[in-house]
Amino acid sequence: MLTVTTARELRAELARVRERARGNGRIALVPTMGALHDGHLALVDEARRRADVVVLSVFVNPLQFAPTDDLARYPRDPDSDAAKAAARGVDVLFTPGVAELYPREPRVRVVPGAIADRWEGAVRPGHFAGVLTVVAKLLHLVAPDVAVFGQKDAQQVAVVRAMLDDLDFVPELVVVPTAREADGLARSSRNVYLDATARWRAAAIPEALAAMERAFAGGESNAEILAALVERELRSRAALAADYVAVTDPATLEPVQRATRGTLVMVAARVGPTRLLDTIVLGDARFGTGLTRGAAA
Ligand code: PAJ
Repeated sequence: MLTVTTARELRAELARVRERARGNGRIALVPTMGALHDGHLALVDEARRRADVVVLSVFVNPLQFAPTDDLARYPRDPDSDAAKAAARGVDVLFTPGVAELYPREPRVRVVPGAIADRWEGAVRPGHFAGVLTVVAKLLHLVAPDVAVFGQKDAQQVAVVRAMLDDLDFVPELVVVPTAREADGLARSSRNVYLDATARWRAAAIPEALAAMERAFAGGESNAEILAALVERELRSRAALAADYVAVTDPATLEPVQRATRGTLVMVAARVGPTRLLDTIVLGDARFGTGLTRGAAA
């Protein structure tokens, strides 16, 4: 594995790779903020299956954190990240510093439209503009054939999808299902913030979603009733108050009244100071099928 920290080295290395492959080598990009866990590594595996060269970026992007967010204490573990990436077969690890990607205060950002107004976008104003700006930069620097993202951050996927479509980006978007801990909790770099009690409470999130899935399988399709069920489960199991339980159309992320197979359910809940996200697709469907350009993994 080659580790590069500057855009110039990255471009030079990828030019060499492309030349060696004589135009036949496919390149995949997996963008991350590091503190790598099995969810990130599942993205690497999918990238490996779809491309000849896997580029993994690790960059804690200040542009997507609000001043009140956890940027300063966001977990960072570069040595462990490099070891995990190498063991998983990453070819190029790109770990730029902040001054490399933002040598000056950005004069231009990629600002999403209404698709980012609700849910995470409403709770974290400016967050998705920060995400899109860095994803656009990474896609330009790497120029991959495929970009791989996780379904756990479903609104992020939808917003990136919208950027790729509306701004005519070339790469194919691949969405990978959520990797979970043994008790069902979605793997997340932020899980390290959780002590044993918080960890136990957090497990109520996938349990509440599983209860919703069972109610849906049992014939309940009223979105309001299904969302209320999740809120009730979170409260009674672990005294958690959800920021939102969104029962949505996977293409638009607008709320639906009737849930059907493929309906996207997103939950955000705060366990102490830690915000956790989880997402399921009802009826065992794959996320991405409702999106505009072959996005399903
Ligand atoms: P980060 O939170 O590090 O996540 C990087 C990628 O890993 C995202 O596509 C995310 O959806 C995916 N991922 C996280 N947890 C996962 C899990 N349990 N199972 C499967 N995939 C999972 O998302 C970001 O970083 C940033 O916003 C980024 C896109 C890198 C832009 O800065």
